[in-house]
Amino acid sequence: MIPLAIPDLTGNEARYLQECIESTFVSSVGPFVDKFERAVATAAGAESAVAVSSGTSGLHVALTAVGVKRDELVITPSFTFIATANAISHCGATPWLMDISRTSWTLDPKLLQSSIERETEVKNNDLIHLSTGRRVAAILPVYTLGTPADMDAIIDVATVYGLPVVADAAAALGATYRDRPIGNLGADLSMISFNGNKTVTAGGGGVVVGNKGGALDLVRHLSTTARVGSDYTHDQVGFNYRMTNLQAAVGLAQMERLDHMVAAKRRIRQTYDEGFSEISSLKPFPLPAWAKGADWFSGCEVTFENTQALRNHLRTLEIDARPFWKPVHLQVPYADAPKTEMNISEDLWQRVLTLPCSTQLTAPDQEHIISEVRAFYNGA
Ligand SMILES: Cc1ncc(COP(=O)(O)O)c(C=O)c1O
Repeated sequence: MIPLAIPDLTGNEARYLQECIESTFVSSVGPFVDKFERAVATAAGAESAVAVSSGTSGLHVALTAVGVKRDELVITPSFTFIATANAISHCGATPWLMDISRTSWTLDPKLLQSSIERETEVKNNDLIHLSTGRRVAAILPVYTLGTPADMDAIIDVATVYGLPVVADAAAALGATYRDRPIGNLGADLSMISFNGNKTVTAGGGGVVVGNKGGALDLVRHLSTTARVGSDYTHDQVGFNYRMTNLQAAVGLAQMERLDHMVAAKRRIRQTYDEGFSEISSLKPFPLPAWAKGADWFSGCEVTFENTQALRNHLRTLEIDARPFWKPVHLQVPYADAPKTEMNISEDLWQRVLTLPCSTQLTAPDQEHIISEVRAFYNGA
């Protein structure tokens, strides 16, 4: 099988892991954690970074740090990986699910604005969702496929209503929005995942980036069991969410080759886009004018034929073609969450096909995949 996305661990990963073992620094304190945090902050164009155990825990602690509490609502797109919504639930809050823009597959700022206008009122300085009576506590945009949402427009809405913004930039390291890196787009905090299927990985893990002071300091404190000093004193209910030195050793080695990895992802995406340009049933993934995406996953949108038929065909040829996110409002735990109309998410999700896009995918393998897709459409 040509795999969908496997890591490239051919840099300093093994050497740095060996250093961890020899130094006995294997846990959540150690030199690689500090170096990794600095490398990610620099790459994201952010002042500072906190390394945590996963992207999901990063979102959970970030939402907690900006003040999301039990029984509140957090606005997020339905077209996302379920972890985004789960992090909201881990705060005891509920996602207010919104549809996406057709052209970017990210949270639609116009729908965001009109939904807040129509469905909320301000009471005692709080934004209250009328039909549930719940306080709206934050906005959580998602950078789908590693492409930033239209952040200037989203931040404008957030500013008008006084809402904090936590960005789910899980797969977006290396992307830019209007020439600015992802840690500098106006969100209070942004989360980057280092899960095994991301462009660069720590085996598992996440990083929350932001400005020094304020919410990011609280992320560091809460994720380190809210410890005060070294005498087992804790001032809040914290989390054991810090990244280990072992993970950070792998993550740092990966960060050393981030530019190379992102360039490979972009090249793979462009090769598919060019290879499919003459197949009228296939549309490339979105390329919104405001972003240079990180092209985490490659593939296409199947606009006419049955997506599953193409997927099954490729899989019989040992090409790991897969579906993509099933919207959150269609998932059992979120069936009752408040939501907007979902015309775009519901139309889109069954037609997305992801294709092999490991950074080490060879040119002959990619040519083979493209020619098999073409053959499917030519009835060969
Ligand atoms: C959009 C999105 N949000 C959140 C996550 C959760 O990250 P993690 O798997 O590191 O917990 C992922 C990926 O895994 C993701 O793709």
